[in-house]
Amino acid sequence: MGAMDDLYPLILAAGKGVRMRSDLPKVLHPMLGRPMLCYVIEVVRVLHPTKIYLVVSGQSMLRREELGGYPLEFIIQPEPLGTGHAVLQARPILQDKGGVLLVMNGDSPLITPRTLRGLLRWHRQRGSLATALTATLDDPTGYGRIIRGSEGRIEAIVEEREANPRQRKNREVNGGVYCFNIPPIFPYLAKIERSPHQKEYYLPEVFSILRREGKEVTSFQASSSQEILGINNRYQLALVERLMREKLLKDLMMKGVTIVDPSSTYIDSTVKVGKDTVIHPQVVLQGETRIGPRCHIHSFTKISDCWLDQEVVVFSNSVIERSRIGRGARIGPFARLRPESLIGSQVKIGNFVEVKKSVVGRGSKANHLTYLGDAIIGKKVNIGAGTITCNYDGKKKSQTIIEDGVFIGSNTEIIAPLTIREGAYIGAGSTITKEVPSHSLAVSRGRQANIKNWVLKNRRGKK
Ligand code: UD1
Ligand code: CA
Repeated sequence: MGAMDDLYPLILAAGKGVRMRSDLPKVLHPMLGRPMLCYVIEVVRVLHPTKIYLVVSGQSMLRREELGGYPLEFIIQPEPLGTGHAVLQARPILQDKGGVLLVMNGDSPLITPRTLRGLLRWHRQRGSLATALTATLDDPTGYGRIIRGSEGRIEAIVEEREANPRQRKNREVNGGVYCFNIPPIFPYLAKIERSPHQKEYYLPEVFSILRREGKEVTSFQASSSQEILGINNRYQLALVERLMREKLLKDLMMKGVTIVDPSSTYIDSTVKVGKDTVIHPQVVLQGETRIGPRCHIHSFTKISDCWLDQEVVVFSNSVIERSRIGRGARIGPFARLRPESLIGSQVKIGNFVEVKKSVVGRGSKANHLTYLGDAIIGKKVNIGAGTITCNYDGKKKSQTIIEDGVFIGSNTEIIAPLTIREGAYIGAGSTITKEVPSHSLAVSRGRQANIKNWVLKNRRGKK
């Protein structure tokens, strides 16, 4: 389908979001790792409009980069005087155009392309001036109610605060998505008056204004009522995010990923996971993470912005950030990979091992209690328990280079910068301060002295 030249999507994102009680604009609160507004933009994109218009507040912290590369035009609403006022800010830009204005609340991220397409098709077919998306909710609290006349036609949309008890019982609500014909809608939008209670210009008011003037208005029902759920507070944020998560995990399972316990698995919408990978309970996968096929990610592990090749096993309680892990590597349990760690294939990083900004070559092992920072480690290196690269002298960071096939005995400190050449051995308990030539043994520790009968002479009276 080509671009829809006469479609003008306008997303309302300038509200204060008072009910969030937050310094962050409501529409930027993250859901599955991305600002909620991204999901609204994404669903509109599916319709291929030439451009998407966004109503934002002057001081809003919206950043284009976060919203994807789509052509966006920001329209400033200087003061949040209500949704009707927000739409009117687009008048100077859009009043010379002809087509359909698709208005969407920026806080309803569950709307589907299917519903949007149906709404547009219905609006164009009916040729009415205004169409509202509706749904019937078990609990309509907080939503505008659809008021219908005797023939079932929309007569008004009444906000909950303004509704009388009988109207409040009505479970048919306004979904916050509308189609209007431009330019004819603008003069009617300009007739909206401030509500007596909130002192705001309510966009849905335009429906009763149009009806009073004998104009045709219609409504269209969302494919499922869940879709229209809006987010006004953090409780609703969590509820809607859970619904999104359930859908995302189901999609992954349908693509061949085993998720042992979906109710305790947290995967951002930006993450990709390969086929036949198994994700155990209580795993968190965040950001730009890519996990290859046939991996196992065990419980209580958190992985952010990482690339894992195929057949990687990450055991429980590991924390991995901005790193790459090669094919068949085994990480953890209780491993910590900090940013810029490049772990080669078949490498083993075991328990209580921390790696930072280091390269670990193919088949190397650091199985226990080790710190590797700013290190370049070759292939088939064996790093004994308790090895520490001393990379920081209090002022600057220095690099350690450990070449292929080196064997490092347990409890070794390596004072960087230095190089341990190919095939060298380091005796356990050494503090290494200078370069070790290839194939040599370096030992640097106090020699052991056994003093005969020292105990009997010095600790007399004791057994
Ligand atoms: C709105 C509708 C309500 C509907 C519900 C669906 C109005 C008056 N009410 O209520 O009938 O059932 O959505 O979710 O429209 N915004 C601005 N500028 C403003 C005020 C709001 O851009 O001055 C934006 C907000 O950022 C938000 C959207 O408009 O994205 C909706 O505003 P909100 O205050 O959440 O409206 P609701 O009370 O939920
Ligand atoms: Ca809302």
